[in-house]
Amino acid sequence: MRKGYVRALLLILALPLLTQCVKGEKRVGIFLYNGEDPFVQGLNAEMLSQFDRTIYRPVVYDAQNSQVVQNEQIEGMLEDPVDLAIINPVDRLGAHAIIRKFRAENIPVIFFNRQPLERDLVLWDRCFYVGATAEQAGQMQARMIISLFGGDPKRLNRFDRNGDGIIQGVIIRGEQSHQDSEIRTREVRDTLSREGFSFELLTSVIANWNRKEAYDKMEEVLNLHGDILEVVFANNDEMALGAIERMGERGFFHDGNGNGRIDRTDPDWIPVVGIDGLSEAIEAIERGTLFGTVINDSTSQAGAIVDLAGAILSGRDPEETPDDLAGGKYVWTDYYPLRAE
Ligand code: GAL
Repeated sequence: MRKGYVRALLLILALPLLTQCVKGEKRVGIFLYNGEDPFVQGLNAEMLSQFDRTIYRPVVYDAQNSQVVQNEQIEGMLEDPVDLAIINPVDRLGAHAIIRKFRAENIPVIFFNRQPLERDLVLWDRCFYVGATAEQAGQMQARMIISLFGGDPKRLNRFDRNGDGIIQGVIIRGEQSHQDSEIRTREVRDTLSREGFSFELLTSVIANWNRKEAYDKMEEVLNLHGDILEVVFANNDEMALGAIERMGERGFFHDGNGNGRIDRTDPDWIPVVGIDGLSEAIEAIERGTLFGTVINDSTSQAGAIVDLAGAILSGRDPEETPDDLAGGKYVWTDYYPLRAE
């Protein structure tokens, strides 16, 4: 009797809360290009942790790297539409059709990580993009290497292993035509040359952001250029870690003095730099195999997405979020360099 009374009282107390949840529940569809991509996984986890679940009900779709699958997922969702879609398109060119579809249904869209063409994004005023400025990442990688080589293009230090005054290197690239791989690669080269450094690109290989592909491709790279290699630029950490693994098997990174970590003074140490700031990359920096990374700030990107979602879904002006909305469309986050001391 007493128990029943307490339960009824609890129910009455909980009622306004429950009503509020149901009333305030906004359905948000999160569409990932590939749920196995470690950077995207981390960014998704950040978003999920930042969305207030008493207001939002996020549903995550994983396209497993197929635009066809993503299109089907979007079609399926439109049968029972969400209030807002947050989309990491598989193919940035696929954004054109996606925007037209969402415009027809009047469902706002926030794209992230893979940037649609500007001419597509301007098709509708209820679509936005949140991402990082790829230029910065390439410039920061180049600057880390410039300072490692002594900072003076006329007097390279001992990291110019063959002493020819030229930095010989390879670039491991992400997906072809992805804005991050194209721009990061270009900026590494342009920054070195702008600062007066001679850089000889021995080869560049595409490894699609993937550790295993980079590991595989490094075999050939080392066969052809292993003797004269002085630096490895990777468009992301996963590929840098794959390259390091293969290089380790091929005799690089010896713990020469047996102190348990790889020092720059150890024989066969050459700098490898990545981008993203994954926890495994930070561990590799501590171990001494990875020289540096550039942090792709997923916490701020998730924060900007959640802020924008909040403004859009509560009918506020998206320009009024704490983040700068460039051209009424873009939120850009900064990268941060992180290198071994
Ligand atoms: C980049 C990131 C890569 C990969 C890619 C996927 O920004 O650095 O690691 O996640 O996005 O689009």
